Amino acid sequence: HTHSVSYTHTHTVSHTHTHSMQTVTLIPGDGIGPEISSAVVKIFEAAKAPVCWEERNVTAIKGPGGRWMIPPDAKESMDRSKIGLKGPLKTPIAAGHPSMNLLLRKTFDLYANVRPCISIEGYKTPYTDVNLVTIRENTEGEYSGIEHVIVEGVVQSIKLITEDASRRIAEYAFEYARNNQRSSVTAVHKANIMRMSDGLFLRKCREVAETYKDIKFTEMYLDTVCLNMVQDPTQFDVLVMPNLYGDILSDLCAGLIGGLGVTPSGNIGANGVAIFESVHGTAPDIAGLDLANPTALLLSAVMMLRHMGHHEHATRIQTACFDTIRDKKVLTGDLGGSSKCSEFTADICHRIQDLD
Ligand SMILES: NC(=O)c1ccc[n+]([C@@H]2O[C@H](COP(=O)([O-])OP(=O)(O)OC[C@H]3O[C@@H](n4cnc5c(N)ncnc54)[C@H](O)[C@@H]3O)[C@@H](O)[C@H]2O)c1
Repeated sequence: HTHSVSYTHTHTVSHTHTHSMQTVTLIPGDGIGPEISSAVVKIFEAAKAPVCWEERNVTAIKGPGGRWMIPPDAKESMDRSKIGLKGPLKTPIAAGHPSMNLLLRKTFDLYANVRPCISIEGYKTPYTDVNLVTIRENTEGEYSGIEHVIVEGVVQSIKLITEDASRRIAEYAFEYARNNQRSSVTAVHKANIMRMSDGLFLRKCREVAETYKDIKFTEMYLDTVCLNMVQDPTQFDVLVMPNLYGDILSDLCAGLIGGLGVTPSGNIGANGVAIFESVHGTAPDIAGLDLANPTALLLSAVMMLRHMGHHEHATRIQTACFDTIRDKKVLTGDLGGSSKCSEFTADICHRIQDLD
């Protein structure tokens, strides 16, 4: 009896270390989702990443009272593992149910969307040396969904900003900066116009900044950020902002480094849950043809490894992926090559083994 207790104890403790396997819920998704997910699984195997996958499908089902929900076995897996990797999910028009991405966000209170945008050497874009992270508040703001007709021809939409959500996102941004060796956080706002709502957001950022003296804090108007971003994106580090500004600015920043096909993202939730995902769609035009580029999902999985504290594995996988792209010999169609997804994946696997 004593023996089994001590084993359990060791096992639990070693969960946070590089050596023991940690369960991750894998949601392959639709369209190219299964192909790019299996590419990531292969690359993780080659890198001996300490992850064991628990595969779950998410399709909307109707729960008690007619409420749409994600399948209980997927919810249960996420509740237990706390960490998910997700491929793209199709949102059929007139599906009759809300988008699964939205359901996942609501189910796990995914309040922060995090997107590192780092220039990829060898993949030519108008900018080099971009290295920034956008952190978007993901639960309120202009997305509160509160809209109504005042009188015929006059519609009002409510931008909801709360103290709690503003403080929570600001704290996450500073904590992220500290944990990822980043030196500054910029709050993006329009408090000059939206004095009360953005004013509250900004005030919470300032308050949190006071408690992170090791991180430089600046505040900037959204329009100024846009102007400076296209002129010289290298001046930015971590940016934190309310929902709509984050929606727009995070896609703009993805564009600076080559678009959604190479941009990873992470969604941080309450109670320690986090789901990492590619931001592109299901690419129905190339699904099942072994033509998809797995880079965005792979870099999301690298972000996930860092979130889990496995920095060495993360760096090795990222290095191998960037080396394959820089080398230009084995590239998928979207990157300007003519290789298959499986060939691109195999090239990364070989490089990882050579790095050993
Ligand atoms: N996060 C998500 O789950 C997510 C995001 C966007 C769209 N969608 C869904 O995806 C479906 C298709 O949407 P869409 O056509 O507007 O956008 P899409 O991103 O699926 O495709 C746009 C273009 O980019 C290409 N592309 C996308 N990802 C690629 C990859 N990894 N490798 C190579 N080429 C890639 C596609 O072939 C296509 O030509 C819709 O049902 C939509 O709702 C899901």
